[in-house]
Amino acid sequence: MRKFSHFGLAAALLCPACDPRVCADRAGDTRVLPDRLSETGLFDNLAEERLAPRVHAYTPAFALWSDGADKRRWVYVPEGKRIDDRNPDDWRFPVGTKLWKEFSHDGVRLETRLLTRTGAGEADWVATAYLWRADQSEALRAPYGAIDVLGTAHNVPASGECFACHDGRPGKVLGFSAIQLGVVADDAEPGLASDAAAELLSDPLPASLEVPGTRTEREALGYLHANCSHCHNQSGAGEAAGKCLDPNDQLGFALDFSLQTDALGSTAQTATYRTALGKVIVRGAPDDSKLVELMSRRGSGQMPPLATEEVDQHGVQLMRAWIGAL
Ligand code: HEC
Ligand code: HEC
Repeated sequence: MRKFSHFGLAAALLCPACDPRVCADRAGDTRVLPDRLSETGLFDNLAEERLAPRVHAYTPAFALWSDGADKRRWVYVPEGKRIDDRNPDDWRFPVGTKLWKEFSHDGVRLETRLLTRTGAGEADWVATAYLWRADQSEALRAPYGAIDVLGTAHNVPASGECFACHDGRPGKVLGFSAIQLGVVADDAEPGLASDAAAELLSDPLPASLEVPGTRTEREALGYLHANCSHCHNQSGAGEAAGKCLDPNDQLGFALDFSLQTDALGSTAQTATYRTALGKVIVRGAPDDSKLVELMSRRGSGQMPPLATEEVDQHGVQLMRAWIGAL
């Protein structure tokens, strides 16, 4: 396995206590991006939060834990272009695509992240965060990130650190995907409105995307996909994309559809069951499972190693319930 090559000051700021075995050494040139969020094309009118034309809100079926932050997300694709969604495991986004993710605590906006495709090359993506002013009138580009924003414990990664996670899949986008939008999680609304899907996607979402298993198994597999699979996956991106983990002999937590055309098959076929059971997961024994131990920890060895300082108690309970019943 290739070890990390750089572990810069910015990464130390992001996650002072955690594991440095994560690459974070690529930053696109964020100067191509506007200084102000209001200039990025998200809102027609920022004060009234009126979205610009062709900007659509969406919600992934399975959430990424960010220490309890509330999030909203939007996507934009230039007129006349579409997202190529023919391969459910690897959507391809046209040049000019923009995605935003806003983080707030108790109704106060802290940061809005922007990920945009700037050119035809695989790596031609730029990512940065915009930090909200206390009066919420505007958010400003922050290529070096920030810590403890607006008096909260929330930290904002520097632009180079974005790709520690976003390089984890060849298409760079992590949560606007078939699994996150085509699967309707239990008791949830569809994550993308049908008129938005019709405008954005080259092909309709398959009618029957399903995660296998009981309700607890589906939730557990979805949780691991959303929270862990950007690093632990076997998509083959590997070193080519600057990923630290060797995809061939590591854990995989991704829900991939390539196993079958329109469904994931059985739980036994999922990467999680194939690669983690009997290793970091001990059937029926959450207390003996390394996965539970590392997820229950903050500081050295914690999982995930980045972007969280608080244990996701709900996530740990879910893992315990699932592993206990295996
Ligand atoms: C710890 C891993 C991690 C880091 C670091 C990270 N992201 Fe993400 N990001 C994710 C995951 C996982 C998703 C999908 C789930 C979601 O939407 O919450 C995501 C979603 C997004 C989205 C919505 C589009 C998408 O890919 O699904 C944007 C925009 C985004 N991130 C921007 C950024 C920017 C800008 C940075 C750096 C300032 C950054 N991210 C750093 C993991 C990360
Ligand atoms: C930002 C990338 C990243 C994310 C996200 C991430 N991990 Fe890891 N994980 C790593 C790295 C790097 C290692 C160390 C690999 C090594 O040294 O062999 C690791 C190691 C592990 C190990 C120990 C493997 C072993 O064989 O001992 C477990 C278990 C694990 N991760 C589980 C998880 C779980 C569960 C999640 C999600 C809740 C997660 N990880 C999210 C990068 C990540």
